[in-house]
Amino acid sequence: MRYLMTGGAGFIGCNLVRYLLWTQVSAQVAVLDKLTYAGNLANLDDVLDDNRLTFFEGDICDREAVADAMAEAEVVVHLAAETHVDRSIMGGEAAARTNFMGTQVLLETARAVQPRVFLNVATDEVYGCCPQGEFSEEAPLNPRNPYAAAKAGADRLGYAYYVTYGLPVVTSRPANNYGPYQYPEKLVPFFVYRALRDEPLPVYGDGLQVRDWLHVEDHCRAMVTLAEKGVPGEAYNIAAGNESTNLTTIRLILDELGKPESLIRYVEDRPGHDVRYALNGAKLAALGWKPEILWEEGMRRTVRWLAAHRDWLEQSIARSKEYFEQWYAGRV
Ligand code: NAD
Ligand code: TYD
Repeated sequence: MRYLMTGGAGFIGCNLVRYLLWTQVSAQVAVLDKLTYAGNLANLDDVLDDNRLTFFEGDICDREAVADAMAEAEVVVHLAAETHVDRSIMGGEAAARTNFMGTQVLLETARAVQPRVFLNVATDEVYGCCPQGEFSEEAPLNPRNPYAAAKAGADRLGYAYYVTYGLPVVTSRPANNYGPYQYPEKLVPFFVYRALRDEPLPVYGDGLQVRDWLHVEDHCRAMVTLAEKGVPGEAYNIAAGNESTNLTTIRLILDELGKPESLIRYVEDRPGHDVRYALNGAKLAALGWKPEILWEEGMRRTVRWLAAHRDWLEQSIARSKEYFEQWYAGRV
């Protein structure tokens, strides 16, 4: 199978590249990635020599770059995005451009290329906050921050290309991912980085917000299931069934690292903070997928991986010095 993966040098992308190359002998994987602060060729170090992998450095908003990279694709997996909520709160332009306009360029190009399937990776955040119960795919979209709103636009744009032009777009809405190579602006790797340095951990608000944690390996299997069995025009939640408050997650990180809870600092909340995400995963379960990695074991393993890759953490953080200084100024 010939894949085009956008965002393949980022967290989920680099894990999916490895998963495809290691599990499918005949996989040919083209990656299109702009290598923003979050994308890093070093994330693909151990597979860059594999002649089944072709790397295209380019922007998904650039029609020519997209046409080159997509020319041979049978399966498009669209992961490239500006993915951090906090950055989108500081300024939403990059998220609007890449997440919405970039998706439009990809969809338009796909009309000419006619891949067998276009997997449009959205997010659980398109539904907005879920104070109780869980959202099925029928729930209204109610994104509440600029990142989520741009992703919701891209989610429905993919659907519109299915309805209008018959493009075989399958949409996924995954829960919060964790695992190796996550850029350390997100909760888990950022707090591991800071705890390793004995620096305070800035917990927004009361820390009782709930996330459902999906291990990136389970997510990779889910994406392959959807590429093979997803019905065009349909959206699928990817739920993990691992709901945890931020404080519970943070205490597990501290415990694994042998660091004291006195590192926790309650700081000013994120504006518009979604206090809970929760998905009903029955529709994807009916296609035969279920999460396999237990939350505590997967989280401890991830913390150990991050601690063993301290240089990678330090170098990743160094690429965004200005962002961290601005966003956390007055918080820690
Ligand atoms: P990431 O930030 O780690 O990686 C994003 C990648 O996209 C980077 O390699 C970056 O260089 C690339 N990129 C950004 N803008 C680009 C552009 N204009 N052109 C080409 N490449 C560009 O993100 P991630 O966590 O791996 O997320 C991947 C996808 O999964 C995103 O679409 C995100 O919205 C979605 N998602 C992520 C999570 C999560 O918890 N990480 C949960 C649900 C959905
Ligand atoms: P994050 O990793 O940014 O993912 P998302 O907002 O997309 O779910 O944040 C996960 C949770 O952790 C979220 O409730 C916000 C919280 N958080 C903090 O309390 N402090 C921090 O410094 C960060 C980055 C996140």
